[in-house]
Order: sequence, then structure tokens, then C-alpha cells
Amino acid sequence: MNFEFSEENEQKFQELLTKYPKKDSLMLPSLWMIQHQESWISPEAMEYLAKRLDTSPMNIYSVASFYTMFHLKPIGKYNIQVCKTLSCMLRGSEDIKKHIENRLGIKAGESTKDMKFTITEVECLGSCGTAPCVCINDDYIQNTTPAIIDEIINELK
Ligand code: FES
Repeated sequence: MNFEFSEENEQKFQELLTKYPKKDSLMLPSLWMIQHQESWISPEAMEYLAKRLDTSPMNIYSVASFYTMFHLKPIGKYNIQVCKTLSCMLRGSEDIKKHIENRLGIKAGESTKDMKFTITEVECLGSCGTAPCVCINDDYIQNTTPAIIDEIINELK
């Protein structure tokens, strides 16, 4: 399976090239573009990016695998990220996680068979004041309750 930037991402890549003196500096924004395009970063995409940035696939892998927000295996269309750090934990994130697991019939770290949902446990989402916090793709759900989760899952199903 070959990978190449979509037309839109190619345009963004070309713009970024004019802004940075070193191609290495384009690695993180390029990885984001790949993830937004494919929902994950495949080995083929890493090889493609390595060629575009005149570096090695191992260099790309070492950066992509360092950050937990980059997905190195396919994930569901909706990635439900449940914060497991202190404030959220004290405000019931474990119960929220169990509720989501029961609703979807999968455990954290797994995806539904139809690849619609993935549950991921993450560290602090930076929204401790509105704990417990859940993030679905790029959207934050604050002061999360099982009822709110049910409503959202029903809409997304
Ligand atoms: S501890 Fe959950 S958002 Fe900070």
C-alpha cells in the first residue's frame, strides 16, 4: 500500500518548506498531516516522509513512536481518549472508562470490529479543572458523565 500526501496536504507541505530552513523541522507537522489524512501513520507513510525530508525511515519512526498521540497502528474512526491522570481519576474517570467499555463491548486499547470506535487511556489532557475529561478525536467533553457519553455514542453510531 503506497502513501502520498493528498493534494491539500501537498500544498501545506510546500508552504512549510518555505518557512523552515531545515527539512527536519517539518517532521512533526508532516506527521500530523499524515495522521489526519489516514487516521494512523503506516510504515509506508514513514518511508514516504523519510524520502520527502531526506532522512531515514528509522529517524521518522523514532520521532513518531516517542509521542503517544501518534498512532502507529490503525484505530477506529472515533478515538475515545479517557484521561487517567489524578484530577480525572479522583472525579470518576475509571467509572467513565468502564461505562464506555461496557457500551462498546471492548476494552481500553481495543477497537470495535467495524473500526468505528477505539478506546484509549491517556495522560492529562490539560483540562483538569473540568474533570473528568474525555476527548473524542479533537473534541473535548468536560465534566463527563455516563449520560453524556451515552448521548454522544448514540449520535456517532
Ligand atoms: S488530569 Fe485529566 S485533564 Fe488533567
